[in-house]
Amino acid sequence: MKNDYALITGASSGIGLESARYIAGKGINLILTARREDILANISSEISEKYNVHVDYFPCDLGEVDAPIKIYNYCELKNYEVNLLVNNAGYGIPTSFHKTSIEEEEKFIRVLGTSVIVLTKSFLPKMIERGYGRIMIVSSVAAFSPPSSIQPLYGPIKTFMNRFSDSININYNHLGISSTALCPGFTVTEFHTASGVQDEMDRVPSFLKFSAERIAKEGVEAMFAGKPICVPTMTYKILVFMLKNFPASILSLFGRKLAPGRYDK
Ligand SMILES: NC(=O)c1ccc[n+]([C@@H]2O[C@H](COP(=O)([O-])OP(=O)(O)OC[C@H]3O[C@@H](n4cnc5c(N)ncnc54)[C@H](OP(=O)(O)O)[C@@H]3O)[C@@H](O)[C@H]2O)c1
Repeated sequence: MKNDYALITGASSGIGLESARYIAGKGINLILTARREDILANISSEISEKYNVHVDYFPCDLGEVDAPIKIYNYCELKNYEVNLLVNNAGYGIPTSFHKTSIEEEEKFIRVLGTSVIVLTKSFLPKMIERGYGRIMIVSSVAAFSPPSSIQPLYGPIKTFMNRFSDSININYNHLGISSTALCPGFTVTEFHTASGVQDEMDRVPSFLKFSAERIAKEGVEAMFAGKPICVPTMTYKILVFMLKNFPASILSLFGRKLAPGRYDK
């Protein structure tokens, strides 16, 4: 379809950028969003040339209350039919919870939570009209993990996103809409530097780290297949099985070994 578009948030690096490349490889047009306009401009022309699709971009900060509506209005103005919505933007706050401001936490909830809900809610009615929509919410293995001693809101908001994704499936699967919660483990991206936890990431054993390209490919394929959840790689499938079935005391022993600094307190 000429006007068929995928909207990808957090498309300037990591999993979002690799998802953009992978989706474009299937001949689908893109609208990319993130804060860094210069990067968005560069990757838009790179992807457009390489895959021969139309790529537009809309720079904005999802921490601002009206950002998701501005994105939606822009797509409406341009007459883009957004049938694929990849809610990917995210980061972590490295500061102890009692030292952050309420504004920082609220912004964090907007980027990882509220914006996902508003974008999904905005694009859903037209997906329903067309009888087709694929949504991906980039969550995390943290959604299943024990509470962490860093970034105390990160796991809870990812759990919330998984539950939200489930609700979309229950309510809209019969209308041709599906939502996939993509739950990666440690992925090599800009995330850990941007979130001030690169030292912690450096101490994670290499067998637990995967490329953004691999995670994006597995996630996007699961989204197209309408799967409700995707835990990429066999390593993390086993880990999530353990997280769901093993007692917390055993898990925290493993956690201290495999992710030093994360479960120390
Ligand atoms: N890396 C991991 O180990 C890992 C594991 C599990 C889940 N995840 C999840 O994967 C998703 C993507 O992260 P990543 O690992 O690919 O990290 P990344 O390389 O740092 O990418 C994060 C993306 O989010 C955008 N972003 C951050 N804050 C934003 C804001 N306020 N407004 C708009 N866009 C914003 C960034 O773009 P700008 O800076 O240009 O705005 C960037 O494009 C996140 O939801 C993260 O929680 C990551």
